[in-house]
Amino acid sequence: MSEKRGGRIPETLREDVYPLFSRRMALTAWLPCLGITYLHYRVGAQHPDVHDVLRRLYYLPILFAAFSGGSRGGLAVSVFASLVYFPHAFTSLLVKDPGDALEKGLEIVLYNIVAVVAGMLVDRERRERETQERLAQRLTEALAEKERMETQLIRAGRLGALGELTAGIAHEIKNPLHALKGTAEILRDAIPEDAPEQRMLTLHLAEIDRLGRAADRFLSFARPLHADRRPLDLGELVDRVASLVSPQGRKEGVEIRVLPSEGAGIPKVMGDPELLTQLLLNIALNGVQAMSPSGGGRLDFALGVEVREGRRQVRVRIANNGPPIPEDRLEKIFDPFFTTKDEGTGLGLSICSRIADQHEGTLEVRNLSGGGGVEFTLTLPAVPGTAAG
Ligand SMILES: Nc1ncnc2c1ncn2[C@@H]1O[C@H](COP(=O)(O)OP(=O)(O)OP(=O)(O)O)[C@@H](O)[C@H]1O
Ligand SMILES: [Mg+2]
Repeated sequence: MSEKRGGRIPETLREDVYPLFSRRMALTAWLPCLGITYLHYRVGAQHPDVHDVLRRLYYLPILFAAFSGGSRGGLAVSVFASLVYFPHAFTSLLVKDPGDALEKGLEIVLYNIVAVVAGMLVDRERRERETQERLAQRLTEALAEKERMETQLIRAGRLGALGELTAGIAHEIKNPLHALKGTAEILRDAIPEDAPEQRMLTLHLAEIDRLGRAADRFLSFARPLHADRRPLDLGELVDRVASLVSPQGRKEGVEIRVLPSEGAGIPKVMGDPELLTQLLLNIALNGVQAMSPSGGGRLDFALGVEVREGRRQVRVRIANNGPPIPEDRLEKIFDPFFTTKDEGTGLGLSICSRIADQHEGTLEVRNLSGGGGVEFTLTLPAVPGTAAG
């Protein structure tokens, strides 16, 4: 503890004292003050008017010092001016100021009063400016947060509406499908096994089953996800996902890296391990798939902590150095059924988005600058007072 104190005192002293001897203070306060003193001691006692002027000239460096260094700067120069003027005012060292003693004494007192008053005004103005800057900073953060929330809400609304529509259509398809399947099975039993129609009916039934499976998939997309949330170390989850995606990465020539955490002691989050694994895996696989046409690349996971609206958040970034996503498509990729892949369903990211919502988190995407790739960021609220080991 004593070591800490020993290190802190010189540091604060330096912070306090250094501004008093800045270049600006030297040019506008210390040098003029010394110049005035020099002239004071040089001008003979037979010029009382010049002494009067010189005595009042001290106010200028004192005021400049207060403007640059606040009350501390003003007071430093006013005390200095008082000390160097004092012998000249009241003793016969070199030359004695021929002015009235009371007037000279009052002048010395006034140097210090002016310094304190001007300095305090400057200090107050500075404090107000700092408060305003802090407020402006908080406002910018609040606006950014509002924008993020709006994006998430719009996305959630779109997902909700599409989910309902999908569920409605899937449901409507499933009912007649049951009837179709039933009648097809009756027909199959009625037709001799070696008849050519039998082959057509088998095909017919297989297609009905395929349509039924698709309708089930759409229904499961629309159904609310069940989350079993508990305190979770996202670092462990990231390691697990990285090893799950590794075989696919190796096949496509993609190097998978888990970068060191940005900051020590990443807190835990309340999460469902299965759902969050699904989320991270979907994004990682998308990254690998995005790079495979160009013959591979790199996929990085990085964990970090940030503070949003006064709450600590754990952040997982998943970045790949593949081609960027066209700007007008950045939000659309979260829409259900939006896909640019021949074999894709376009459901991956919309499910990821729902999982993030369910965890009171956000999922964002951005293109890295200079065509450096694509980065997804999952942000989840930290469980207070936890730090994963
Ligand atoms: N890392 C990425 N880089 C470039 N484009 C991406 C990336 N991740 C997603 N995309 C784009 O977003 C689209 C939607 O992704 P999403 O995971 O929802 O569906 P999908 O991958 O096409 O299909 P599925 O997930 O069913 O296989 C993709 O088709 C692709 O165009
Ligand atoms: Mg996908």
